[in-house]
Amino acid sequence: MEISEDYFDSYEEIDVHRLMLNDVPRMEAYKNAIFNNKHLFENKIVMDVGAGTGILSIFCAKNGAKKVYSVEASGLSKMITKVIAENELTDKIQVIENKLENIEVDSIEPVDIIISEWMGFYLLHEGMLNTILIARDRFLKKDGQLFPSVATIHAAPCQVPELFDFWDNVYDVKMTCVGEGLRQGKSSKPEVMLVDKNNLLGDSKVLAWIDIATITADEIDVVGGQELVFSCNKNGKYQGICLWFDVEFPGCELSTSPFNKPTHWKQTVIALPQSHDVEANEPVAVKITMKKDQLKPRWYNLELEVIDPDDAEHDIPCNCYMTKCIVSREFIKQHDNC
Ligand SMILES: C[S@@+](CC[C@H](N)C(=O)[O-])C[C@H]1O[C@@H](n2cnc3c(N)ncnc32)[C@H](O)[C@@H]1O
Ligand SMILES: [Zn+2]
Repeated sequence: MEISEDYFDSYEEIDVHRLMLNDVPRMEAYKNAIFNNKHLFENKIVMDVGAGTGILSIFCAKNGAKKVYSVEASGLSKMITKVIAENELTDKIQVIENKLENIEVDSIEPVDIIISEWMGFYLLHEGMLNTILIARDRFLKKDGQLFPSVATIHAAPCQVPELFDFWDNVYDVKMTCVGEGLRQGKSSKPEVMLVDKNNLLGDSKVLAWIDIATITADEIDVVGGQELVFSCNKNGKYQGICLWFDVEFPGCELSTSPFNKPTHWKQTVIALPQSHDVEANEPVAVKITMKKDQLKPRWYNLELEVIDPDDAEHDIPCNCYMTKCIVSREFIKQHDNC
């Protein structure tokens, strides 16, 4: 994969790192993942892929790691060297000023742990997971560990009044048509925004579950694509699908859900071309597919297909009001009573 230099230029902006270092849920999750698992780090060789300011490398070195390879492709790698010296950890951390993809296999020791904060918006934006898979296959020992080790993308139907309702009444003037025009545009470009948990209209479903220890690069070229049927849990305006992700470490997780404290990833909304009034127990169905862009491998195209819930396969049991789901719920209830 050719990696554009523009991508690394953007990581030379200190403000980008300040934003990440100020993201409390992100920082606490990584800090806890490292410091609450001291037994896993003690005397181990660690690789920090995309070290940025070096914060995770320093956490690992402070927590007993024997050696840390701190890999950073952007010009920030010069800064890491200074930060490490400032923290008197030069003997433990080796900065590698290079793209991970360019490091020769035999130039460093195999590692016990790969740690990285590689996640982008809706998990996959930036395509850095591919770099982690290369690091895993080239440098991780057979029984080595990945921090994080599992990632999950969730989806739920939502309303997004912040995006559209404003136009319904501007100082008593109706401009709904402006909102409609906006909606057409938004449905082809996902919106990164904070979604209030009260604007979710149904329980979330898993769009993708990724075991980072075993997934292959081919398997992340196209993600999702299965039918998702939601039973709405309240009345509202169905205007889009809200996406978020979480990642797991041994003993803790980092969640970017609307139910948790906001992070700099926020949530991602794919808007529907039209708003639909829905009521509690009404079923809605979609197919969401994330496809890696052929020309820009750091980008994914998010496709949303609306499906007629009549034609979709519902969960068993499903809470929706369709006859087939009421019947199967009753059947299960009677069966449970037997
Ligand atoms: C999201 S930042 C995380 C920075 C730091 N680990 C932290 O948690 O604050 C990702 C970093 O990975 C670096 N990076 C991305 N792809 C890389 C690659 N292929 N090789 C080396 N560094 C890479 C970027 O330049 C950026 O500094
Ligand atoms: Zn149903």
